[in-house]
Amino acid sequence: TGPELAEAGRLLAAARRPVVFTGAGMSAESGVPTFRDAQIGLWQRYDPQELATPAAFRADPALVWGWYEARRRGVRRALPNPGHRAVAAIQARLTETVVITQNVDDLHERGGVPAPVRLHGSLFAPRCSACARPAPVPSDPPVPHDGPVPHDGPEPHAPEPHDGPLTPPACAGCGAPVRPGVVWFGEALPSAALDAAVEAASGCDLLLTVGTSALVHPAAEIPLVAARLGAPVVQVNPVPTPLDAICTVNMRGPAGEVLPALVRAAWPDADAG
Ligand code: APR
Repeated sequence: TGPELAEAGRLLAAARRPVVFTGAGMSAESGVPTFRDAQIGLWQRYDPQELATPAAFRADPALVWGWYEARRRGVRRALPNPGHRAVAAIQARLTETVVITQNVDDLHERGGVPAPVRLHGSLFAPRCSACARPAPVPSDPPVPHDGPVPHDGPEPHAPEPHDGPLTPPACAGCGAPVRPGVVWFGEALPSAALDAAVEAASGCDLLLTVGTSALVHPAAEIPLVAARLGAPVVQVNPVPTPLDAICTVNMRGPAGEVLPALVRAAWPDADAG
């Protein structure tokens, strides 16, 4: 991807207000499974699209809460990868950069982007399913064997002994079950985040889309908004997506390798991070 890298580097170097739009592929090299790839441990036999719904939580709160707790613990043990750090380097260089993520992990924050726009909520913001009162993040049981997962291997975590259905805590206010603070299929996106994302995409002069299948709406419209208003779109993904059709530059590769290379291409003298 020599010519693509050079062209994308030129576009980034010329940008003043870029948007970086990220999906699960951004965290894949940190060992966090994507949605539409294989899941880990006993969760392999569940389809994420069937667990991530209000109906699933009503039908079996312990199953859904247990799945999110397993994912939250996996994220806790993961580390930001060089792709997350490259996004932070872009924002450090171009301070008007807006990072918009569909991810519910906290790897952008830990990778140096303090306040990404979160379209799909967070694994670290549980709230009451009835009154919406914020609830504490559960404390983690000690992990017997392993420390943080190295960023350079896609090796999935071994399932933990307590991995499985888990009764959600009760709300301290009203006693109803606590739920994950994420957006489920069929639910509205948080309107402040969606507004901020649309505004940033409307005013950007480059949209960099990273590691998303671009299949889930309305989030997937963010790159389309930018393209419609004339901003160049640069995509980083190892496989084709529906965004191929609107891309100015399409970089087929993993975020953890392509993004640091892109930063070096844009600013050859700078420390790519
Ligand atoms: N680098 C870049 N992209 C990668 C990498 C990598 N190392 N590994 C995988 N990908 C790409 C895959 O090719 C795929 O296109 O990341 C994408 C992940 O797609 P999904 O699993 O569909 O994740 P995402 O696009 O974030 O899903 C959107 O769907 O389930 C919901 O709410 C959930 O936010 C999520 C939304």
